[in-house]
Amino acid sequence: MKTLKIAIVFLIISATVFLAGCRKDAPAEPSDTETAAVTTEKATETETETETETETETETEPVTEPATEPAPEPIPEPDPVPEPVPEPDPEPIPEPIPEPDPTPDPVPDTEPPAVTDEIVGYTSKGFPIENREGRTYIGGLLVVNKTYSLPSWYDPGGMTPECASAFYSMCAAASAEGLYFYSISDYRSYALQSWLYQTYVDRDGKEAADTFSARPGHSEHQTGLAIDVNSTTQAFAYSAEGQWLAAHCWEYGFIIRYPQGKEWSTGFIYEPWHVRYVGTWLSIPLRDSGQTLEEYLGIDSVYN
Ligand code: DAL
Ligand code: ZN
Repeated sequence: MKTLKIAIVFLIISATVFLAGCRKDAPAEPSDTETAAVTTEKATETETETETETETETETEPVTEPATEPAPEPIPEPDPVPEPVPEPDPEPIPEPIPEPDPTPDPVPDTEPPAVTDEIVGYTSKGFPIENREGRTYIGGLLVVNKTYSLPSWYDPGGMTPECASAFYSMCAAASAEGLYFYSISDYRSYALQSWLYQTYVDRDGKEAADTFSARPGHSEHQTGLAIDVNSTTQAFAYSAEGQWLAAHCWEYGFIIRYPQGKEWSTGFIYEPWHVRYVGTWLSIPLRDSGQTLEEYLGIDSVYN
């Protein structure tokens, strides 16, 4: 029996081998057995491939659509480096307010000067006219204008002490009110006045120069009693200093020697800057009367 079985298997194998050789030469319909075998093989292959793919799929990272990168959070602009806050300027240390000058001593009221025996006449107002070494004193006051002159050699040596003292007192009083006075021209020698007058004559002609510049020997500046204050422009009259000067100079014995509208009396145009020291005995009545020196004394001012 066993031998029979072996023989049957041998025959089956032989037949199979034969049929396989025929299939190489002429394709034929596979037998059910072969189909089954092939199907089994394919199934096996398919399973194998499937397993392989599955394994591959398992091993391989799934290809995924590249995820859209989320829009990065905008990097906030760094806060701009703030400008360094400047240290506030320290509170300015206030300048110490200067102690106001002590109220200047009031200029003592002056008495009319003494009259000598050298009287040569009287004015229309009754004031005695004296001649002292070539100088004219009227009512005891040294007078210089177009009518009355000084010798060329007369030289008081600068601003006279009484004029200087009164001027400094006036400057101190004005300074306490925030006003500043200074002399731009006071004593002028005969020689200097000669040069100055000639300069104006050359520039403007004699007739014009005679309205604002005194001929040599006829200038009050040669007496040491006259001062040009701050400015020689007509605008000075409208400045705070000019107005203060006109309002207060009489308190210190000064007068505005050539007032506005009095050229017919003084012989010179308005000079709001030119003050003459006469003393309070005269400056106060001149202030009160509004008269010029010539009007008050009863004299004229004309070149002979
Ligand atoms: N300016 C005046 C009048 C003088 O020359 O003295
Ligand atoms: Zn002057």
